[in-house]
Amino acid sequence: MVVPSEPTTETFRVLLVESSAGDRFLLREMLERDCAPRFRLVQVTDTLARAIEIVRLGESDVALLDLTLPDSSGIGTFTQLHDAAPHLPVIVLCERDDEELALLAVQRGAAEHLSKGLIDGHLLQRTMRYAIERGRAEAALARERDLFNTLLENIPDRIYFKDCASRFIRINRALTKLLRLSSAEEAYGKTDQDFYDEHHAAEALEDEQRVMATGQPMIGKVEFEVLSDGRRSWSLTTKMPLRNRRGVIIGTCGISREVTELKEMEFALSAERNLLRSVIDNLPDAIFLKDCNGRYLLDNSAHWRSLELSGAEEVIGRTVFDFFPPEIAQELHDNDMAIMQTGEPLLNHEERIVDRAGESRWMLTNKVPWRDDDASILGVLCITRDVTEQTLAGERLRRANIELEQSREATLCALNDLQRAHIQLRDVQLQLVEAEKMKLVGRLAAGVAHEVKNPLAVVKMGVEFLQAHLTADKTAREVIGEMSDAVTRADNVVRGLLDFSAPKRLELAPSNLNTLLEHALMLVRGERTGEVEIVREIQRDLPTLPVDADKLNQVFINLLSNAFHAMPDGGTLTLRTYSKQLTGVGSNIADIRSESFRVGETLIVVEIDDTGEGIPEDLLPKIFEPFFTTKPTGSGTGLGLSVVKTIVDLHRASIDVRNLPEGGTRVTLMFRV
Ligand SMILES: Nc1ncnc2c1ncn2[C@@H]1O[C@H](COP(=O)(O)OP(=O)(O)OP(=O)(O)O)[C@@H](O)[C@H]1O
Ligand SMILES: [Mg+2]
Repeated sequence: MVVPSEPTTETFRVLLVESSAGDRFLLREMLERDCAPRFRLVQVTDTLARAIEIVRLGESDVALLDLTLPDSSGIGTFTQLHDAAPHLPVIVLCERDDEELALLAVQRGAAEHLSKGLIDGHLLQRTMRYAIERGRAEAALARERDLFNTLLENIPDRIYFKDCASRFIRINRALTKLLRLSSAEEAYGKTDQDFYDEHHAAEALEDEQRVMATGQPMIGKVEFEVLSDGRRSWSLTTKMPLRNRRGVIIGTCGISREVTELKEMEFALSAERNLLRSVIDNLPDAIFLKDCNGRYLLDNSAHWRSLELSGAEEVIGRTVFDFFPPEIAQELHDNDMAIMQTGEPLLNHEERIVDRAGESRWMLTNKVPWRDDDASILGVLCITRDVTEQTLAGERLRRANIELEQSREATLCALNDLQRAHIQLRDVQLQLVEAEKMKLVGRLAAGVAHEVKNPLAVVKMGVEFLQAHLTADKTAREVIGEMSDAVTRADNVVRGLLDFSAPKRLELAPSNLNTLLEHALMLVRGERTGEVEIVREIQRDLPTLPVDADKLNQVFINLLSNAFHAMPDGGTLTLRTYSKQLTGVGSNIADIRSESFRVGETLIVVEIDDTGEGIPEDLLPKIFEPFFTTKPTGSGTGLGLSVVKTIVDLHRASIDVRNLPEGGTRVTLMFRV
């Protein structure tokens, strides 16, 4: 825009470049007489170089230039000065005969030319004012044009001007670049059809026709553009009518901004939002968001269905107090508030709610604070799952497990009982086999003993007779002595056999086992060969027992003699008696196994310990067999323990023989009270 200068008050600075003193005088006279004080004159009297220096300072409003100077002449004088200050209006002063040169200067940019002889003050003043005003107007226009061009060339948005037929008449650098043209001019006269696909070109044409027809701009339309070479982009476009100075619409102009990135972000955001929404809507878990006051802001179908409502709108804006009994609502609300106050999430929290039917339901809940970008808490996000069925099933499982454990223990107990019964059964079976064997042996022994006993009695009497009557012959006496020993041994065997096979009848009378034991010990003292210490661990108040005292005497004699025989070089013999009650727990399994004793029964136990050589483990099962002996012939018949066992069995008592870990043997007898 050209701003007119103030004509009356302004003082113009005039640079007069004139080497002729006369002309200078005349011109100054004219100015001072006709125009003062509006023109202030600065004179350059000598060279063009000096004049150029001054114009470069930019302090002149107009220059009066004589083309003939000492250091320059002709058109060069003007062009040099003009180059130094392109915007300074220069009025060329010429001689009357030099009009051609002056005209050339005007063509090259001089504001005006004046013939020196024809100048008067008035003309000079008008010419200068005109030159100054026009110079200013041009400068202002140039500035406007520069601004406009700067905008067009630098703005990243695409700007274009089109005529009424939508042909480009001007486009900016951004559009030139987009259309991949080497210069903007290449687009002029062409339309969108030359650069875009048919669809976009047609749509753009329609928009422009409408803008021109209505005179109304089209503002901020988001367009999808496909260029002829296939490039695609999104633009935000505004189109306006282009008018001439008289306001007549002569085309359109538009500005488009590339928004592809924004659009893609929008698509991505919307895809994310859709994904999130479909997750929220399709998850079987109830998901909802509450604000700082506990009001529902977002809700999914799983949640409103669980509340037996028909849509999220029935939940949004309401609180737990609208749906649950007061005390449960208060607890839920307190949980939410605690999360918002502390910022701590509540994870895998089991909470109880009550449904509309008044039934308790168990929910597994995760609640986390909902924060905005600056991390301040806006509310609570909650995901919750109905785990009532699982909780109940878990409870049922727990109970079933307990029952299972109990029945397992019962089964184990039964199994133990069964095992014990099995062992007992096996032992009884073995005993029966053994008893059967013994019965046979007994019958045989009885028969043999019976047959041998009478002849042996005759032999014995004969030997005694001979001993009494054959006293003179020494050799005969010795032979008879040996015969007597042999007969005694045979008699012992026969008596042993008879004991073993004696009729199974007992003469029971209450007796004290301590007394019987002491008596037997007294009888077998003679069997000792070494120094044997006798230790007594006797229970004094042992209850009396109905036993066959003679037979039991035989038992103790046999056991004590075996013990003495096992310690030929001496040792310790321990006699132990005590009574005990079978508890079942912690009792020696042998107690239960050896006889069919029952838990709760009171027993009297007799133990005879020696510190002898013990019995080799492989021989232990044989020691009760008749005639089993490890003693040299003549020393033992091997009937002792067989007799003992028979008598013990008759008393329904038990006997157990075992080696002691520290050496020696322990014989244990157990009697029922
Ligand atoms: N206390 C013991 N220490 C070591 N061995 C023993 C003991 N008691 C018995 N025995 C072994 O058991 C065998 C059988 O004993 P058993 O009393 O039946 O017969 P015996 O003592 O050999 O002869 P007898 O008929 O004269 O008693 C013995 O020969 C011996 O080997
Ligand atoms: Mg013996």
